[in-house]
Amino acid sequence: MGTYHIKGGRKLSGEMEASGAKNAALPILAASVITTGENVFEACPEISDVDSMITILRSLGCEVVRDGAQLAVNASGLSESRIPEELMKEMRSSVFLAGSLLARCGEAVISSPGGCNIGRRPIDIHIKGLRRLGADIRQSTDNPDHIVIKAGKLRGTQLKLDYPSVGATENLMLAAISAEGTTVIENSAREPEIVALQEYINKCGGNVEGAGSGIITIKGGTKLHGCSHRVIADRIEAGTFMLMSLGTGGEIYIKGITAEYLRPLINCLKEGGCRIREERNSVYASAGSDSIKISGCISTAPYPGFPTDLQPQLTAFLTKHGAKCTVEENIFENRFRYAKQLIKMGADIEISKKQVIINGNNILYGGDVEAEDLRGGAALVIAGLMAEGDTAVRNTKYIKRGYSRFAGKIRAMGGEIRENDEREQNSKECQKKETT
Ligand code: UD1
Repeated sequence: MGTYHIKGGRKLSGEMEASGAKNAALPILAASVITTGENVFEACPEISDVDSMITILRSLGCEVVRDGAQLAVNASGLSESRIPEELMKEMRSSVFLAGSLLARCGEAVISSPGGCNIGRRPIDIHIKGLRRLGADIRQSTDNPDHIVIKAGKLRGTQLKLDYPSVGATENLMLAAISAEGTTVIENSAREPEIVALQEYINKCGGNVEGAGSGIITIKGGTKLHGCSHRVIADRIEAGTFMLMSLGTGGEIYIKGITAEYLRPLINCLKEGGCRIREERNSVYASAGSDSIKISGCISTAPYPGFPTDLQPQLTAFLTKHGAKCTVEENIFENRFRYAKQLIKMGADIEISKKQVIINGNNILYGGDVEAEDLRGGAALVIAGLMAEGDTAVRNTKYIKRGYSRFAGKIRAMGGEIRENDEREQNSKECQKKETT
């Protein structure tokens, strides 16, 4: 499972280049199954969720060649429309393949998608939208856990989402590519990663507009070809490192990131006394000489609101730099599990169903804590770096789902963190026992 061992109290300062965004890369990789010919993706993050997506693409008959952050995908030989259940469970983003397989093959067989355990995460909005497009969706007669989706004849239509779900917006954009006529998705999610998906589809010969505005129009019936595409920078990774550096009293220069995508975090940090300079394609942030003090209530909301994916890292940061403030989670109903681990490290916080109240002026102490999901795990690493003493963060596999070369980047900024694999450790202990 792997454990990060952290020595707290070091100031993290320096320059970093943001990696490609997980939440942009995964839907684009899923979209690539609609295309024929070669795609070359640059800045594809080296994370385990991308590894899982590559395994799924290969199982469907796509050719995938990886060279570091460059990925070549050719889906011309796609031969399968059934996603193996064990791969489906690997991550949430496997669900996007329903839309893209439907567009490419007229059929998809899926099961419940996996992903971090941060709430119920149903797929009813996806299903309702696909049905409105004309898809026939039933439980498989062979296996009640499998869902068989058949396109029949998909027709463009007006869709109004009950909630601006990121995944449902992306899935429906993909399915609508093969629908006859025009599809309009109202109340669609507005995240930058949706705009990035639109850009990719259009580069491949598709006809999509409106992403980012809340109303997306897809003219269907186009055949897509491959293209070269650079994955946009990861705003969540950038936000995580900003909080990590400022949390330890350091300064950071992040290259490759659009400051606008981090607006709610930047505003919150500025109000607390941090110095932030925005440049065209980079952001500089410094804790400054005065102590940072953030107060008030920070609530998560769909983009352009405060991102739920930075909520745990912000809470960890506030345990040291918050003055009687509240963090409210409005997207997922089970996203405070990490907070109990922060209490183990001495955090003076109160957890309720939707809120964490931070009493302020905390000192954190190193401890032995367990990551239970991706962003919660990153929050515990931030806490460990800010704490007095040594911290062990167990279950690094969750963190590796979404952060590329995490420990290496922290070390490059002056943080003391090393990783050991528990299996390695166990086998070393066994060897020791055998020789004594
Ligand atoms: C995506 C992101 C994830 C981020 C989230 C919210 C990817 C790969 N993941 O996840 O990192 O935290 O957006 O910004 O891009 N919901 C339903 N029914 C549905 C779909 C969603 O009730 O059919 C609910 C969810 O349970 C949740 C809320 O809507 O409470 C938001 O979910 P959604 O926007 O779909 O998130 P994901 O696409 O899963």
